Amino acid sequence: MESEVKLLVQRQLPRHIAIIMDGNGRWAKNRFLPRTAGHHAGVSSVRKVIEYCGSIGVNALTLFAFSSENWRRPQQEVSVLMGLFLATLEKETAKLHKNNMRLRVIGDRTAFAFELQESISAAESLTSSNTGLNVVIAANYGGRWEITEAVRRVVTQVAEGHLAPADISTEIIASNLNLADLPEPDLFIRTGGEKRISNFMLWQLAYTELYFTDTLWPDFDQTELEEAIKDYAGRQRRFGYTGDQVEKLFIHNGLR
Ligand code: IPE
Ligand code: IPE
Ligand code: MG
Repeated sequence: MESEVKLLVQRQLPRHIAIIMDGNGRWAKNRFLPRTAGHHAGVSSVRKVIEYCGSIGVNALTLFAFSSENWRRPQQEVSVLMGLFLATLEKETAKLHKNNMRLRVIGDRTAFAFELQESISAAESLTSSNTGLNVVIAANYGGRWEITEAVRRVVTQVAEGHLAPADISTEIIASNLNLADLPEPDLFIRTGGEKRISNFMLWQLAYTELYFTDTLWPDFDQTELEEAIKDYAGRQRRFGYTGDQVEKLFIHNGLR
């Protein structure tokens, strides 16, 4: 790692990075290839980003692989994406495990083929005790879906008499979301040039630093990720405080 980046990273390393991996289709189109060639090419970016995040000690990396809206795509493209997901899980899980990484999938997996559901469960159980990088794949995931599920759980607790309506708080909602045990994303990255959230982690992104790059996902590599982390490290997160207050907090408590 370059020393400048290393210094910045030591000073202000994001604990959780969440990425919308966008631009595979355009990458392929630019090369007169079918869109699915872009999805295949995107897998190597996934590998690079996971390796790099593991090497610098990030706690969690969440990758948006398939949205609950992506079913609207041509059936052939959807089926290639599903096949690629399965093949990549089968091929890469052993390596993740060897590297002490924990894999989790968030999203409504009941819509997936049985074989894919089985493979997801197997990868999750194999790696469940690992203590290194948390690799989270968001598949058939939507932020509104996740919040709706959390609300359903909370309402069930109320209906069963375990919780009073007056005790429903933001903490209670948050603790019923998928990744309640992980810090919320510090850094959000979207490749591919679009400046939107596309129903990704709506609740958790409330105070996340947003970073957008025109680079198409298959072209995204370690250098690009370092750029994003450098940019993040140079920002002042205020969480509603004034800039001066934050400076003081930093000096006295080393808060980030
Ligand atoms: C992101 O790339 C991958 C998925 C949504 C599965 P796209 O396929 O959306 O690529 P563009 O946006 O069409 O270029
Ligand atoms: C968001 O990308 C979902 C993933 C990257 C998996 P899309 O390409 O589907 O988003 P929109 O439709 O352009 O908002
Ligand atoms: Mg897209």
